[in-house]
Parts: sequence; structure tokens; C-alpha cells
Amino acid sequence: MYARQIKNGIYAVGIQDWGRRLFDSLIPLPDGTSYNSYLVRGSDKTAVIDTVDPDFADEFVENLKGLDKLDYIITLHSEQDHSGSIPHLLKQFPGAEVICSAKAKDLLIEHLLLDPAQIRTVADGETISLGDKTLQFIYTPWVHWPETMVAYMKEERILFSCDFLGSHSAGSELYDNGDPAVMEAAKRYYAEIMMPFRTAIRGNLAKIRELEIEIVAPSHGPLWNHPESIIAAYEDWVSPRVENKVVIPYISMHGSTAKMVDFFSKELIRNGVKVELFDLTVTDIGKLAMALVDAATIVIGSPTVHVGPHPIVANAAILANAIKPKARFAAMIGSYGWATKVVENTLALLPNLKVEVLGSVICKGEAKETDLQELEDLAKLIAAKHKEL
Ligand code: FEO
Repeated sequence: MYARQIKNGIYAVGIQDWGRRLFDSLIPLPDGTSYNSYLVRGSDKTAVIDTVDPDFADEFVENLKGLDKLDYIITLHSEQDHSGSIPHLLKQFPGAEVICSAKAKDLLIEHLLLDPAQIRTVADGETISLGDKTLQFIYTPWVHWPETMVAYMKEERILFSCDFLGSHSAGSELYDNGDPAVMEAAKRYYAEIMMPFRTAIRGNLAKIRELEIEIVAPSHGPLWNHPESIIAAYEDWVSPRVENKVVIPYISMHGSTAKMVDFFSKELIRNGVKVELFDLTVTDIGKLAMALVDAATIVIGSPTVHVGPHPIVANAAILANAIKPKARFAAMIGSYGWATKVVENTLALLPNLKVEVLGSVICKGEAKETDLQELEDLAKLIAAKHKEL
């Protein structure tokens, strides 16, 4: 058995996926990821909490070699990177019961073709006794599917949180140990996966605030032996607070939009506003998503391609619309060759953003004196709006 002890009878038995560089065929994983699974041996019953990505099912089963019995396979979330090895585990332990939330049952049947007779659902707040250890299930919907829940073990004050409070990284350290790199990975994870569900997360954080927590054991990344740090960080990220910051994702084809972005960003800085630029031809979209966690304003820079935005800008706009950052203001700058509808066509891609559009500066060809004056005015307006917040 390859098991790392967390507490007496509680072991980490998951997988480090050092080489994975993309999740959901979309999200960059600069440091790989892990699929954490936990073995809990109580005095009467034994449980595994979450499994691993099915690509690693054989290694996972090997990790558990020597385990003589398994009573429960607890599934906090139905997405395949955690549930995908349940069928392999059931082959080894056909008598084990799969425990999940009421909404997860249908998903497990549909995604994994599990036999409904092997699944037992638990209600919000219900407990399962393993003898000297108890697991209480707390529904925490939308972190990040509707069926997600966490499990709390009061005897050891451990919160098993699955994706919630997790981070994509592979590593040899079992715990975060206060490492800022773990917090950055957690912020990236929040930005890419959790951010659209801020309202639900606020409710979930209030629920877990009622618990005494010594360790948070997520299903990606290191365990938090400083749980207050990640819980407080989430509380900040989901709060309405925004920073005096403008994020500018942009593309330039022949240089005129790039010159506008350069001039405009310097005007913003001159007016006391923090700026983060993202040339979308070379941007790690995870870094862009992180910048959007607390930016007050988004300014999109795009040249015109067949009257609309550059397709790479359109792609970034669709992504921003999906992750729903809490920005309060937006604007657009850019250029065109002979005709344009770049502003209307780009803003139409952002219906989920609850922003006040402060204006646009779109010039024909190179920016002229009047265009530069408009950029100066837009920078001043943004700075004034930020001061009002
Ligand atoms: Fe890590 Fe939503 O799966």
C-alpha cells in the first residue's frame, strides 16, 4: 500500500499527475495536478473519500493493495477526475457502498454507468459512523457542480472539501506549510473554476465557518495545515471588494492597437491606477483569470477583423463572460482599417458581466491627437470612478 499518514487511521492514497499540462482541454496546469484520495480506517468501518482520474485507476488500486475490506466509497463530487476510478475500486470491493449526495446519484449513473443498487445517498447534515470516527456530510452546492458536498470529521477536525479550497499542483509536500506558491495556485484554481459561483460559495463558507477545522483536505493540491489562510482568502475573493486595478487583455495586428494600449496604460498609471496588460498572443489564460478576480475595470483592446473583434479577443471575451468576474466597469479601445462594429460585437459577448461601460476609443488606422486625447480622458474617468468605490 502507498499511503501517507495524516492522522491515526487516516491516509492520503491519491496520485500526483506531474506531467499534465491542460485540464478540461482548456485550463493550463503549469505545475501539474494531483487527484487526492483519502483512506479512513475506523474501528468498525473503512471508507475511501473520493477516487482518482481513471487514467490512473491501476496505480490507485495498487496504492490500496493489501486493504482487506472497504465498506464505503464516499464521492463528494461526480466529475470524473474524482469519481472516474469508482468502477475499478468496486471490482476490488464489490460489497462497498457508494455514498453521495442526492443530486450526485443520477450523475454517477449517467457518467460512470454505476448500478443504482450500489449507491446510497446522504442528506445535508447526515452522519455516517465508522466506529471511532464519524463523517458528517454538508451540502456545498456549486463548488463547482450542483451536487457537491464536503465531509467533516469532528474527532480529528478535518474537512474533506474535494474541489472546494483546492489547487492544481503536483508536489511531494503533503501540506501547504504556508507556502505562497500554494496560495497562488489556489487563487488560479478559484479564478478558473469557482469564480462564477460566488454567491453560492459565500453560503458554503458560512456553513464551514461553524466548524472547528484543523486540516482542510481537498482533492487537488496540498492539504491546508493553515486552514484559516485559505478560508479567509476565499472570503476575500467572493466579497464585493475590488482593487483599484484595470486589466487590459489585447491583441494588435499591425501595431496601432498596441500603441494605444501602451499610451493608455501609462495614462492610467499616471492617474494612480494599477494596470495589468495581457497580450493575448502569449497569455497564460490562468494568469488573466487570476488578474480578473479583483480588478475594478476591464478594458479590451482589439483591432477589427471583418468588422468584429479579432477571434482571439472574442475567445478571451467568451472566457471572461463564463467566469463572471466582479469588475464594475468596462471599456474598449482599438482600431480598424475601413469600417468597424468591433465595440458592439465584442460587448455582445459579455452579457454576464454586470459592468457600467465607460466608453470606447476606436480609431481608423493610427491613433491621432484627438484619439490620444480621448484615451487620456478615458483614463481620467476610470481613475475618478475607482475613487468613488
Ligand atoms: Fe476536480 Fe470538478 O473536478
